[in-house]
Amino acid sequence: MRFSMRTKLITGYGCLDQLGEAVRSFGVKKVMLCTDSFLAQTPAAAAIQTQLAGAGVSCEVYTQLQPEPIDVDCDRGAAFCKEQGVELIVALGGGSVMDQSKAMAAIVTNGKSCRELDDVPIPKRMLPLICVPTTAGTGSEVTFVSVITNTQDQYKMTIMDADSLSPDVAVCDPALLTTLPPKLVASCGVDALTHAIEAYTSAVANPISSALALQAMEMIAQNLKRCWETPSDREAQSAMMLASTMAGAAFINSDVGAVHAVAETVGVAYHIPHGVANSLFLPYVMEFNRAGNEAYYARIAHRLGAAEPGAGDGENAKRSIRFVEELIAQLKIPAFASFPQVDPADFEALAARAAKSPMSLDNRKPIETEDYVRILRDAYQSKKIYR
Ligand SMILES: NC(=O)c1ccc[n+]([C@@H]2O[C@H](COP(=O)([O-])OP(=O)(O)OC[C@H]3O[C@@H](n4cnc5c(N)ncnc54)[C@H](O)[C@@H]3O)[C@@H](O)[C@H]2O)c1
Ligand SMILES: [Fe+2]
Repeated sequence: MRFSMRTKLITGYGCLDQLGEAVRSFGVKKVMLCTDSFLAQTPAAAAIQTQLAGAGVSCEVYTQLQPEPIDVDCDRGAAFCKEQGVELIVALGGGSVMDQSKAMAAIVTNGKSCRELDDVPIPKRMLPLICVPTTAGTGSEVTFVSVITNTQDQYKMTIMDADSLSPDVAVCDPALLTTLPPKLVASCGVDALTHAIEAYTSAVANPISSALALQAMEMIAQNLKRCWETPSDREAQSAMMLASTMAGAAFINSDVGAVHAVAETVGVAYHIPHGVANSLFLPYVMEFNRAGNEAYYARIAHRLGAAEPGAGDGENAKRSIRFVEELIAQLKIPAFASFPQVDPADFEALAARAAKSPMSLDNRKPIETEDYVRILRDAYQSKKIYR
């Protein structure tokens, strides 16, 4: 068994004020703050710059980062980083900013292009990286993977290495979630829930990843809706921030499965954000996996607070799926058919691509093209499973 978690975690409401100290401990003089143009205007970005100035560290602000990052932007950002003689990157943002920052930091030290880093061991450790997540979803602040779209072949690459790509420090301040719009609270939260469920049910799960995944599920079930309803609910924000980090640590040491395989395929084809794409397919993949694996899904129902005391695993497995279906409906995440660019004539080709994804291999149950076609069709019709 292998379990890796080499990122130092700093958590808690207001912990962003420890960032300057964290940077100082690296003894560097030149830092780049990577963020997007919206987040660059927030008090968090200003606070980081003030702390760095206070620590006597010069800071270049780089904002050429877009949601769902692409290879050429990573290459361009890395070249700029090199030109500026940057010694450490602070990434302020969601999964997109953190993933692009990881890729840039690895391109700089390895002297390769982004596409050359796809699916190979990364020989040299990336530049020091401190992640400051502003969404509760991806867990990228502790994962050693960077998910970047290959614009030549239109798929999401997996740039991954436990030693070279683990962020050095994650500063997880739930106060940064206050500005997150409810629709992003919802979709990012379901991404974290998907990480937990897929990590727990993966064919390559281990006892440590499963413990983290189960605890994350429980925290998400109790706090995601609260966070979505009440942007001032500090307790719920704190729980969601922590749960998303835990779910990240779980899946990176286990794997994700068929939900991510189909969501990433569909997300790239139709430009649907990652969390939304996961929400479209999670209940249908759970239903596909359920038969023969009732004990897993019954355990999930217990942790989601959805189990019927005294009912058997068969009944409780179904209840886990009903809970997830209802949660996604309550969070008002858009339906698959509401995206005008989605064309059912594409489903065969998308299904074939999802079936070839390495994530399909670690799914609880072997899954083939025709299974994905059914899942895509059911999702397109918003077919009710147990509701
Ligand atoms: N590396 C990993 O382990 C991992 C895991 C899952 C997903 N991902 C990747 O992460 C990306 C998705 O990341 P995400 O879901 O965090 O969203 P995101 O980073 O794409 O951000 C979405 C939008 O939210 C805005 N935003 C972020 N924080 C905000 C805040 N606090 N207040 C207001 N607006 C805010 C951003 O400006 C952006 O426009 C995808 O590319 C996905 O493939 C990576
Ligand atoms: Fe994800």
